[in-house]
Amino acid sequence: MLRRLHAEQPASFAFTPANLAWAKGQITKYPEGRQASAIIPLLWRAQEQEGWLTRPAIEHIADMLGLAYIRALEVATFYFMFHLQPVGSMAHIQICGTTSCMICGAEDLIRVCREKIAPTPHTLSADGRFSWEEVECLGACANAPMAQIGKDYYEDLTAEKLSALLDDMAAGKTPVAGPQNGRYASEPLNGLTSLQDFESGRTQYNASVQRQVDVGDGLKRIDGTEVPLLTPWLGKAAGRPASSQAAPADAPAMRQPQALAGPRAGQADDLKVIEGIGPKIEAMLHSMGFYHFDQLAKWTEAEIAWVDSQLTAFKGRMIREKWVEQARDLLKGK
Ligand code: FES
Repeated sequence: MLRRLHAEQPASFAFTPANLAWAKGQITKYPEGRQASAIIPLLWRAQEQEGWLTRPAIEHIADMLGLAYIRALEVATFYFMFHLQPVGSMAHIQICGTTSCMICGAEDLIRVCREKIAPTPHTLSADGRFSWEEVECLGACANAPMAQIGKDYYEDLTAEKLSALLDDMAAGKTPVAGPQNGRYASEPLNGLTSLQDFESGRTQYNASVQRQVDVGDGLKRIDGTEVPLLTPWLGKAAGRPASSQAAPADAPAMRQPQALAGPRAGQADDLKVIEGIGPKIEAMLHSMGFYHFDQLAKWTEAEIAWVDSQLTAFKGRMIREKWVEQARDLLKGK
């Protein structure tokens, strides 16, 4: 399936304050220079907040991680778990259509979605509250056919049961997730044949469903206030964000390189030919008074450290990508 960004996009994206704090906490999980590794959790949180991944959200996260937009777009368009088009404001229904579910009635469930939501997948219902799609195996094959709705699995479904679930959700209820045929989990339909003492001491529902019942809502969008920010590693000095750490004793001294008021003869070199410098970073270098390869080529270690410290979201890249060495090679005509 071709995955493209939706034709209609909002003008901007911002995390809620609590989600932003969460996102910054996630970034600190990774060592300096490896912040890009936080791309999937951040994209996922943006989707949990908005329901789908907008272009402004993808670009906002790329900026937070110092990534070229194309790198974040590659991730967002590769994984099917990311919704690239608006989904229902109340629920997005994901019907498993893979083998076990298909032979147990997935096509009946899809028919219900076509009739009750929209004739085609990835289309909002008339009231904008629901959408649906067919997905590949969700790993609950022993409870086929099934659907993921919001954060929960609804299993052992029939067309009638799915139809009733949709009615309940439309009425503002949160139906209990899990098997819809009376099974506790994925035990045999005729009852347990082994481990029969399992009955004693079990919770009312299986662990996943019990969690849904305890939380009370598996459909709501996440604004970050639902759970405390869990970043225990921030208690260790080594794990703290760079901004909260005292400079290590062996940190390089910094010195601001000599800057120019403007490009010589009104003509800047095209800094974008240096691998790793895109239009955004070039504009940042211009704003600091750096327009020419020979300026970059002369930077000392202390000057590189100063420029790097100014590149905020792109910190570490000039060293990793050896911009100064590239500028020297360009001057030598390599
Ligand atoms: S085939 Fe549907 S969950 Fe595996």
